[in-house]
Amino acid sequence: MANENKWGSNLAFILAMIGSAVGLGNIWRYPYVLYSNGGGAFYIPYLVAIITLAIPFLILEYGVGYNYQSSFTKAIVKLKPKFELYGWMLPVSIFILTIYYSTIIGWDGIYLFLSFFKGWGADPNTFLNVNLLQSTNSLSGVFNFIPFVAIFILLGWFFIWFISHRNLDEGLGRVCKIFVPLLFVVMFIIVVASLTLPGANIGLAELFHPDWSLLGHFDIWMAAFGQVFFSLSLGMGAGFTYASYTEDNIDLISSGLYVIIANCAFENFTALGVFSILGYMSLQSGTPVSEIISQGTTLIFVAYPQVFNILGTLGLILGPLFFFTVYVAGITSMLSTFEVLSIAVQNKFALSRRKVTTILCLIGALASMVYATSAGGYILEIADIFINNIFIIVSVFVECILFAWVFKAEKLIDFMNSRSKTFKLGKWWLLHVKYIIPILLVIIWFGGMHELLKIKTTESAMIVTVLALILIIVSWIFTRMPAKSQDWFETEERIK
Ligand code: PHE
Repeated sequence: MANENKWGSNLAFILAMIGSAVGLGNIWRYPYVLYSNGGGAFYIPYLVAIITLAIPFLILEYGVGYNYQSSFTKAIVKLKPKFELYGWMLPVSIFILTIYYSTIIGWDGIYLFLSFFKGWGADPNTFLNVNLLQSTNSLSGVFNFIPFVAIFILLGWFFIWFISHRNLDEGLGRVCKIFVPLLFVVMFIIVVASLTLPGANIGLAELFHPDWSLLGHFDIWMAAFGQVFFSLSLGMGAGFTYASYTEDNIDLISSGLYVIIANCAFENFTALGVFSILGYMSLQSGTPVSEIISQGTTLIFVAYPQVFNILGTLGLILGPLFFFTVYVAGITSMLSTFEVLSIAVQNKFALSRRKVTTILCLIGALASMVYATSAGGYILEIADIFINNIFIIVSVFVECILFAWVFKAEKLIDFMNSRSKTFKLGKWWLLHVKYIIPILLVIIWFGGMHELLKIKTTESAMIVTVLALILIIVSWIFTRMPAKSQDWFETEERIK
């Protein structure tokens, strides 16, 4: 039992964290966000978000996770027993995220399969929305079940179960050690190939053409903070959970830094490839780059197939490589989102990893079937806004207050500094985690709500209400169920 939940080495931890961070957010979301928020000018808010939010908060999450060596929920129970409900709400909300994340991975699985013979045909847009997803832009399609999509979503869940039900180092650790470096190698090949395409410079010029005037707009700052949050898996309990499995000698400050550098290098490098390809397409079709890009999801499932169509035989190589990379990036991220609730349930009910992962994968797979209907894409978009704009920000705010003030971030400094081979924590760090981050979060939250109010239809309000109810009721049930584990209330702390 002792090693069921421990990384075999510090390298496994770092690679698993990079695997968690590098995901769909880096490949389909980032290039689009960068482009639509001022191109080169976006780098200013992006860097500010990394320095003021990501670095200090990631280190705080790692430190507290390391200290408690337990799930997020068990740590909250130790810290403030009255907060157990909140301790469940975070993992449950990440489980809701996992369910829709599995859907995008499922779609990508379909495209990976189709890419071997360009099965999306000559009109990828109609293919995606009409033939494949049969999208209705409302709830009306919820009874139209699409078995083909369902099979691919279920396949993703099977992989998660297959990897997660083993002991940590044999499953998750081993997969990340093999696939995370592979992800970087394959992406490198794709980007280099894309950079050599005729017209690549048109796309790159478009990407880096900075629109400085946007810096004065609130939206671009919000977009930068939102991107950094999602892309680095911040505040979702993933970093907390992975850090809790580390060995005593881990250097958490440097590890956090490596994860941030690897993630940001990956997404910026990917953006170069994406825009070279778009430049190529713009040259071939005579359409300006700005018209090719419409929306994140469309970019990879519509614009990419279009490009692979024009590329001929090269498309038959780059296509499968590209969708394979997205698949691997998605799975290694989903492993981390799944883990947060899984370990919390294992802790409270003294159940084995094998049992809990099997039950949760079955529940998750069943719930994800709602996305295998014609209303799937519509519900997914609202679920994403609910988790990423409304819930997570409030939750991270609570986390920051609990960790920095109740737990007392000061306690971490000496211990973390004594192991750090890079930089040391000091007053600036405390200032960030205690004051700057909570204040920034309040600002981001109001901005996020403002976005949300723009799409206020009765149907979307209904979906948000249902999701909120599910979140509260499920978390409440977990809280009320009596603990089966002897030590649920007696978490040991590693940092004395
Ligand atoms: N960081 C992942 C991505 O970029 C998504 C993720 C969010 C993973 C939260 C874990 C926790 O796609």
